[in-house]
Amino acid sequence: MTDQFHGAMSSANVSALWERTSHGGEGLAEAPHLWHWETLDPLLDAAVAATDMDTAERRVLVLENPAYDASDRRGIGLNMVVNLQILMPGESARPHRHTLNALRFVIEGDGGAVTTVDGKPCAMEPGDFLLTPGMCWHEHSHTGETRAVWLDALDAPLHFHFDTNMFEAGPSNDIPPQLPEAALAAPGITPVSTEWTRPYSPLYKYPLAQVEAVLRETPPAKDGSRRIRYTNPLTGGAAMPGLDCYMLAPGQGSETQAYRSNANMVCLAAAGEGVSRIGDTTLTWAKNDIFTCPRGNWISHRATSDDAKLFQLTDRDVLAQIHYLREEFAD
Ligand SMILES: [Fe+2]
Repeated sequence: MTDQFHGAMSSANVSALWERTSHGGEGLAEAPHLWHWETLDPLLDAAVAATDMDTAERRVLVLENPAYDASDRRGIGLNMVVNLQILMPGESARPHRHTLNALRFVIEGDGGAVTTVDGKPCAMEPGDFLLTPGMCWHEHSHTGETRAVWLDALDAPLHFHFDTNMFEAGPSNDIPPQLPEAALAAPGITPVSTEWTRPYSPLYKYPLAQVEAVLRETPPAKDGSRRIRYTNPLTGGAAMPGLDCYMLAPGQGSETQAYRSNANMVCLAAAGEGVSRIGDTTLTWAKNDIFTCPRGNWISHRATSDDAKLFQLTDRDVLAQIHYLREEFAD
């Protein structure tokens, strides 16, 4: 009878829910992984030797999370990919646009590298944060004298899940009107514009010097840490859909309040040195190291130098927008 039942279900393209054993992955936290800069750095030079910009759309190394080795998943986290992009003096990367939201965090350079976003040139100095939101034209050029390296992060897995990935090669065209920076220069005063209806910040560049100035004046939390969020000045929300970013300055000698979330985070050590506890793993990090903080783990950070800062990119706003986000803090 049972076999007849299963045969009939199979013929009818039906299955029995009660016979499934998996109830989802929440609570099964991945272990974190850390990429040391001293390992990555020589690979960047090797990438320059291995390819040129006439043959590569972008000279990019993809960080592959070993937690995904046994699966067909790729990239650094559930909803994010993180790459390292290298551009040498005199090189350029041609314009294109895509539905994927992308951001850049500059690791190395002399300010000669420029990303142009929908016609706005943004010079790239170490520590600067840049947006290239979905369907914005973007291209890179470099008139400086030293190697330029930046972290690229994209919400590619979300687009692959929804099958919404679309790519268009340049030349740039149909660039929409932009809001001038001067219209966004006063805190708490924003233009009322019927022209700007896009779901991301009209600021495409957040300079490190401004982030440091705000961090200095930010009152520390009880655990001694200071944290800022990169926001869209028109909404106060995340600067861009898909990726929600922060800069954390943990207090030296004191651990940040432990928290656990069903969102994912990747940290880049923007400055200094420190130690992070992620689940049962303790990671020791130094400048430019990159590590994952996968969902489900209890997470805390501690600075071991007074200048330590962690650039943090997360998918938490995606979960918040659809009311899936769950976060808890230790006492
Ligand atoms: Fe791109």
